[in-house]
Amino acid sequence: MARILVTGSTDGLGRATAESLLDQGHQVIVHARSAGRATAVADLADRGADLIIADLADRQAVMDAAAELDGGAAIEAVIHNAGVISGADLLPVNVVAPYLFTALLRTPTRHIYLSSGMHRGGSTDLDGLDWDGSRQTASYSDTKLFVTTLSAAIAERWAPRVSAHAVDPGWVPTKMGGAGAPDDFDLGHETQEYLATDPHLSITGGYWHHGEQRQPHPAVADPRFQERLLAALADATGVALP
Ligand SMILES: NC(=O)c1ccc[n+]([C@@H]2O[C@H](COP(=O)([O-])OP(=O)(O)OC[C@H]3O[C@@H](n4cnc5c(N)ncnc54)[C@H](OP(=O)(O)O)[C@@H]3O)[C@@H](O)[C@H]2O)c1
Repeated sequence: MARILVTGSTDGLGRATAESLLDQGHQVIVHARSAGRATAVADLADRGADLIIADLADRQAVMDAAAELDGGAAIEAVIHNAGVISGADLLPVNVVAPYLFTALLRTPTRHIYLSSGMHRGGSTDLDGLDWDGSRQTASYSDTKLFVTTLSAAIAERWAPRVSAHAVDPGWVPTKMGGAGAPDDFDLGHETQEYLATDPHLSITGGYWHHGEQRQPHPAVADPRFQERLLAALADATGVALP
C-alpha cells in the first residue's frame, strides 16, 4: 500500500480523494491550511491519516512543510489538489506550492496535478507576474495552464523514475464548483486515485479527464514554454528543480 499526500484535503475533491484512498487501505497524509481547518479532517486522522498543516499562500510555510514531510516516512505519491479560483493567492496556491513540493520532496515517484478544462483559455505570457501573490496578476485559466505545463515538464525530465500527470476533474459540485455543477463528483476524484496507486501504471505525461487521456493546450508540450515556466519559477522561488 502506498503513502500518499493529498493537498487541500479539508474540503471538496481533496477530502473525497483522501477518504477514498483510506477506504482502499492506503496510508494518507491529509493537509489543512491551519490548525482551525484541521478539524475538517479530524475524522480522517482518527482513521490513521497523518496531518500536515501549511497555508499554501505562504511560501515559507510550504518550504517548512516540505522539510517536515521529507523528514518522515517516504511518500510515494503527491496529489497536488489544493486550489483557489480567484484572488491574489492564485499563483502561490495553484502553481508555486505544487512547484515547491515537487522540487523539494525527495521520495515521491508519482506527481498528480489538478488541472481544469479552463487551462485551455490560459495565456503563455509570463511577463509581469507576481508569483508572491501580493496582488492578482494571473487568471485561474493561466494558473491551470502553468500547472499542466509543470506536469508535462516533470514527466519529460524525470522519466522513468518519476511519473507526472495532470487531471481535469470536470465541473463538479464543491465549494469551488458550486452546488449546481453538472459533472459526476466521484468521477472527479477517481482518476487521481488511479494515477497515484495503480501498480501497473507505466505511462507518464498524461492529461486526463474521467479516466481517459485528452489533448491539452498545445503550449503544454512546447519545450520552450516549459523552459520559460521552469526558469520563472526557479527565479521567483530561489529553488531550482533537482
Ligand atoms: N470543482 C470543480 O468543478 C473543479 C473543476 C476543475 C478543476 N478543479 C480543481 O480541483 C481542485 C480541487 O477543487 P475543489 O472543487 O475540491 O475546491 P474546494 O472545494 O474549494 O477545495 C479546495 C481545497 O484547497 C484548499 N486550499 C485553498 N487554498 C489553500 C491555502 N492557501 N492553503 C491550504 N489549502 C488551501 C481548501 O482549504 P479550505 O477548506 O481551508 O478552504 C480546500 O481543502 C482544485 O485544484 C481546482 O482548481 C475543480
